[in-house]
Amino acid sequence: MDEERIDEIIGNHGTDKSKLIGILQDVQAEYNWLPQDTLRHIAKRLRIPLVDVFEIATFYKSFSLKPRGKHLVRVCLGTACHVRGGPRIMETAERSLGIKADETTSDYKFTLESVNCLGCCALGPVMVVDNEYHGKLPPTKVEKILRTYGYTGSGKDG
Ligand code: FES
Repeated sequence: MDEERIDEIIGNHGTDKSKLIGILQDVQAEYNWLPQDTLRHIAKRLRIPLVDVFEIATFYKSFSLKPRGKHLVRVCLGTACHVRGGPRIMETAERSLGIKADETTSDYKFTLESVNCLGCCALGPVMVVDNEYHGKLPPTKVEKILRTYGYTGSGKDG
């Protein structure tokens, strides 16, 4: 990760430890995850123990300590979506992106996740890319949707 850019983000907030959450939010917004080296760097700059930074980074669900792609693809496998073909949507997304659920493509374009219910069961099966919902989705449309987010072929090829 670009240390200069991280310093710039820290500079925007200041180095008081009360600014930690804001700094982590900005880093997460820019890179979609929080690498360990970056957390170490932030701890050093704010002069606080690394364990305190980890505590905050693991407490809030919006922070990710695992690499995440630019686009988050979530496929619902809750009961209603499951009976309406959710697993086939997931299989198609996995095959298209060349990754399994909870993985990220090697070009960091996509992260694929399964969820248990998105609260719109009548629309099942549902796939959400970033915050855009795609309901009553046939598997044949999965790839077409991914293409609108920059998918260009098998995840292995980019
Ligand atoms: S089970 Fe999929 S939205 Fe509720």
